[in-house]
Amino acid sequence: MSLRYISAAEAASHIKHGDTLGLSGFTPAGTAKAVTAEVAHIAQAAHAQGKPFQVNILTGASTGESCDGVLSRAKALRYRAPYTTNADFRKAVNNGEIAYNDIHLSQMAQEIRYGFMGKIDFAIIEACEVTPEGKIYLTAAGGISPTLCRVADQIIIELNAFHSKNGMGLHDVYETLDPPYRREIPIYKPSDRIGKPYIQVDPNKILGVVETNWPDEAREFAASDPTAEKIGQNIADFLTADMRRGIIPSTFLPLQSGVGNVANAVLGALGRESSIPPFEMYTEVIQNSVIDLIKEGRVKFGSTCSLTVTNDCLTEIYQNMDFFADKLVLRPSEISNNPEMVRRLGVISMNTAIEMDLYGNVNSTHISGTKMMNGIGGSGDFTRGAYISIFSCPSEAKQGKISAIVPMVTHADHSEHSVNIVVTEQGIADLRGKDPKQRAQAIIENCAHPDYKNILWDYLKLTDGKSQTPHNLKAAFAMHNELAQSGDMRNVDWSVYR
Ligand code: COA
Repeated sequence: MSLRYISAAEAASHIKHGDTLGLSGFTPAGTAKAVTAEVAHIAQAAHAQGKPFQVNILTGASTGESCDGVLSRAKALRYRAPYTTNADFRKAVNNGEIAYNDIHLSQMAQEIRYGFMGKIDFAIIEACEVTPEGKIYLTAAGGISPTLCRVADQIIIELNAFHSKNGMGLHDVYETLDPPYRREIPIYKPSDRIGKPYIQVDPNKILGVVETNWPDEAREFAASDPTAEKIGQNIADFLTADMRRGIIPSTFLPLQSGVGNVANAVLGALGRESSIPPFEMYTEVIQNSVIDLIKEGRVKFGSTCSLTVTNDCLTEIYQNMDFFADKLVLRPSEISNNPEMVRRLGVISMNTAIEMDLYGNVNSTHISGTKMMNGIGGSGDFTRGAYISIFSCPSEAKQGKISAIVPMVTHADHSEHSVNIVVTEQGIADLRGKDPKQRAQAIIENCAHPDYKNILWDYLKLTDGKSQTPHNLKAAFAMHNELAQSGDMRNVDWSVYR
């Protein structure tokens, strides 16, 4: 059967108000771009005529400007899951304009299969190659594409020439069976391959192939700052010490790291630490820093869901596939983030917090408990099963007006039961083996900013100091209330609670 080549506008013209679109990609890497941009135009035209036009989007993680960006601004989104980083989307969600379901990334594919997300009308999948027999070779991310292709009514392929066909062997496509037939995932080390390099579909389901040449929309990295560098060094020093005392085996354990400056700084510091042997990654996102460490021989292997790297870096990988082929694998998010794998492999997880409380509860998603920042991403997938789970953030935000260490988090994504290590640029609090009262001491002493240490000690004096988890419920959010009123948590006045 021959494939039908169509324009992005023609592909988008099949999409109707109320349809659910399943998109390839994970972060802006590997995300469909051309058809969603056309959907935004259709929505704008419909709205100009007073007609409703909104779609639902299900994807692997965040997308790029030509998806979440244009669709949010065109008011073309009714519902979306999961993680996103787009500023316009964030604004719309916090204005109540879009229904946002922020679930763990490893669960997306199975929740679609279980039927929790309803019917999928179109899968829009970015590929570097598609064959008339229905073999689809993905680009820079695994995401939820295998499941989308299987369950969607129709498939639209964005055949993106920006992604070299050299990348055809990067993927290991594998889908689990659903309960009660599910078996263990047979990955016993990060480099194991268990699937096929392509997704096999019935070619009759392919509505059309849209040819594009569209670079990925990954963000350029901000220059690293001294705070991120210090946090990175603190984590590297901690891991080195744990290896020296035999808690981490001398062969080391696979690492997961989030995205952003701190993640880059940690990996940079670990790369420089000569006492740490070359290590592996079992992670969801690989950034430029890991590619550099692979080239230097410091990272032996990277298992990931996406290559969220700059376009120069991606081009370099495609041009040197002979070198990278046995050092990288791209997996669907259901596998890259699978808690079963994280627990089995003993992954050390490193994620970022917005705020952390005195007992080790972590808020990664909400500003002051109500406004969505980005979402939980894969942080929960990795944290719960990790060999050692680490959370870091700068000790203060907004020029010191906000303390990242607070009496009680205003939204809990990761609980005290799952969080092992808390890190700021001030230092490290090792919560392992400690009861809540001991944890509070370690967190204030080692991680709080000096401006906030006495404020936090004074909060503890308002509690009975004896309960399992001492709190003064009237005062627990006083620092947040103070921020809302005067704009600076440092002005909090505890005397009214005594
Ligand atoms: N209250 C209000 N604002 C706060 C804040 C707080 N307690 N803490 C941080 N902020 C603000 C910062 O000032 C900054 O604002 P700006 O953009 O206006 O400068 C913004 O939040 C981001 O903070 P920053 O310190 O630059 O952190 P980041 O870019 O590393 O992002 C998270 C931190 C938590 C938002 C981000 O890592 C995330 O979305 N994590 C959840 C998903 C995840 O962990 N995925 C797993 C791995 S990919």
